[in-house]
Amino acid sequence: MTTAGIDTLPRISSVATAQEYADVRKKSWIAVSDRGYEVLTHDNGWTVMSSKDFDIGGGFGWVLDQLDITHGPYREEWNKIIVCTEGAQREHMRKPYMHLLKPQQVAKLQSLVRELIHGILDDIKDPTNVDFMAEIGDRLPPQLYCELVSAPRELAPEVWRITNSINPPLITFNKARVKESEDAFWEGMDFLREHIEARRTNLGDDFTSELIRCEQDGMISPEEVTSVAMSLLIASMDNTMHQLGLSFGTLLEDRSRWEEVLARPTASTQAAEETFRLCPRFNVITRHASKDVIVGDFTFPADSWIMVATRSTGRDETKFESPNEFRLNRPASKALQFGGSSYSCLGAILARLEISEMIRIVAERFPKIRMIGDWKAAVGPMVSECEHLRVSLV
Ligand code: HEM
Repeated sequence: MTTAGIDTLPRISSVATAQEYADVRKKSWIAVSDRGYEVLTHDNGWTVMSSKDFDIGGGFGWVLDQLDITHGPYREEWNKIIVCTEGAQREHMRKPYMHLLKPQQVAKLQSLVRELIHGILDDIKDPTNVDFMAEIGDRLPPQLYCELVSAPRELAPEVWRITNSINPPLITFNKARVKESEDAFWEGMDFLREHIEARRTNLGDDFTSELIRCEQDGMISPEEVTSVAMSLLIASMDNTMHQLGLSFGTLLEDRSRWEEVLARPTASTQAAEETFRLCPRFNVITRHASKDVIVGDFTFPADSWIMVATRSTGRDETKFESPNEFRLNRPASKALQFGGSSYSCLGAILARLEISEMIRIVAERFPKIRMIGDWKAAVGPMVSECEHLRVSLV
């Protein structure tokens, strides 16, 4: 099929159900929605997101445009952040994150992550009635963030409030919360500037000190230290918090899934991957074609938007046998929800560590965990949020 066949492509909603995706996948690996092309199958999805032929067309700027954040100081600050950059500037900006979040560095965090998880579980007042997000999921990433940047752990609730107000209103396209987002951004900026300045005279073994060393070594400018620190404040928490909720909702909604986790105590990493496949935080990985690009039998025309629909690719029956089943023994495959190529998530290893350790430790300490009532996930065009998940740990 070439672009000439575009009118014959099936149409699909940008928030289709699993069944709607399955029905359309039977006809075609590619569909059209109001926002562009939707790629529905796993291998073509991976080809699109890992191909150097696509760009991100201004990246997160596209989201900001939808929310009418098109100019002014808030937009100018966002334009400095990696997710809004392309080309050489993006390659340059990725270096400090790659340094901070390299696999050997993240591996060293395992005992800290475990200690934090045990502390969070110890704090639970009534194990028979737990609000999973408030008492577990929302607590780990902000506590870890404070440890990573050497801020006092008591600041974690404040950090949670700030990070939860900056990005979530934007990626859920909630115009009513844009002011909250901007206010929280400036508040976060003030906190970071003060924190970075204080650290300059007292360098230690933490992310902020490492960023300052990157500046001293000439890798980044003083202004870039702040924008890298800002994007860590923005990107390192809300996605992991929601994925924790989505992962536990997925594991507990069907008892046989949790039994499988208990039967394979060393397979918490595979368990986490299965939940990402079945219920990803990121429902779409966005790419843009600046020129005609051929993928398989289709030519994406210049100036088109391409959405890799992870809620469909994860259930692609040509890639995964019985795709709706949770199985720990699947052959390894690329997980698409962390993106790819020169745009890929730089915190994927850390996020995987947090989520798989949470699964492992809850399984060890609270094997009888069960869901109370139903859980609720809000599925949006860009991300899913865990809205409600109540559990009994005992
Ligand atoms: C489950 C949790 C997470 C999910 C689902 C997630 C997902 C994503 C996705 C989809 C992208 C864009 C990829 C692309 O377009 O190819 C991204 C980018 C990014 N993520 Fe994550 N992420 C998570 C956690 C984290 C954490 C913990 C950190 C930092 C510690 C982080 C830092 C970043 C950064 C800095 C970028 C921008 C990369 C760039 O533009 O070059 N993420 N993430």
